[in-house]
Amino acid sequence: MKNILAFETSCDETSVALVTTEYQILAHTIATQMEHARFGGVVPEIAGRLHLQMITPLVDQVLREARMGREQVDYLAVSVNPGLIGALLVGVSFAKALAWAWSKPLVAVNHMLAHIWANKLVNPALQPPFLALVVSGGHTELVHFKEGGDIEVVGRTQDDAAGEAFDKTAKLLGLGYPGGPVVDKLAQRGKPDFVDFPRALREKENYNFSFSGLKTAVKQYVEQHDPEFIKENAPNIAASLQAAVTDVLIKKSVRYARTHHINRLVLAGGVAANSGLRTGLDRQAARYGLELFIPPLRLCTDNAAMVGAAAVEKVNAGDFADLSLNAFSQKGTRRI
Ligand code: KG4
Ligand code: ZN
Repeated sequence: MKNILAFETSCDETSVALVTTEYQILAHTIATQMEHARFGGVVPEIAGRLHLQMITPLVDQVLREARMGREQVDYLAVSVNPGLIGALLVGVSFAKALAWAWSKPLVAVNHMLAHIWANKLVNPALQPPFLALVVSGGHTELVHFKEGGDIEVVGRTQDDAAGEAFDKTAKLLGLGYPGGPVVDKLAQRGKPDFVDFPRALREKENYNFSFSGLKTAVKQYVEQHDPEFIKENAPNIAASLQAAVTDVLIKKSVRYARTHHINRLVLAGGVAANSGLRTGLDRQAARYGLELFIPPLRLCTDNAAMVGAAAVEKVNAGDFADLSLNAFSQKGTRRI
């Protein structure tokens, strides 16, 4: 068994973890940058600077927590795409510097694959074939992991990501940033059928998603009602929005899995923390006899343990990066 020191700096979480090649988490820290809240969204320049301040103390903290020194670190791993380029660059530059200074092999990780492989940290035996529903602040993808290792993105959003639908609704309702957790909490005491928000691209054979119409519908709804009514009914609006987003996510994933005879469903990404999505998917998976994998809450949103988990496959294959490694912002779940 070997140890991987992993870094995640793609957006507004600075995170460092020490993970074994057997998918055990030895130590893990996640520092969420609260400084963006007053801007109503992540400011890339600020994110990069804060990553730079946080990353060294977090490495010290993780090694202390694991009661290990650098000699016990066998590999380094880092998210290189997708994400905010200035934020990614901090993690990549830091990991490269350590790889050079400590003479350790370095592994480059795709952040979306890392979200999916977060599931390995609780279910190390998880193997393809499976269908992954990857839902985050910047992505909504259905990814088919085939037997033998090939992956195919079989559906994706044509405009906004699922997380954006939550974030933008929260902004319209004056609930702050990030919106997902607040909308989720409010929705728990609201009526999901209070407003019939649109469900886009409902045709049976269409596995793509679209959430920008939903954002417009929420905006129009808010504009057409007086502020007092909106405030009073915020839980109902949140519950209706959540239902509109999760309905399509659940329907399309279950339909794709059933149509293509895939009997394992994997949920991943920040929106996987959503309680409505978790229970709805659980219910439908049970109904159709699909085996469902969902990471625990802490491993759904951005974290470095998932980066370590995604690195294991590459460590085992001897697939290492050299010091010419660079960050890039190209979107999507892909092997790199
Ligand atoms: O994966 P992630 O941490 O960062 C990206 O890679 O984008 O996902 C962040 C997204 C944000 O849009 C946030 O609002 C959403 O995940 N999110 C949630 C919940 N927790 C986080 N959305 C709905 N319900 C939640 N409980
Ligand atoms: Zn993410």
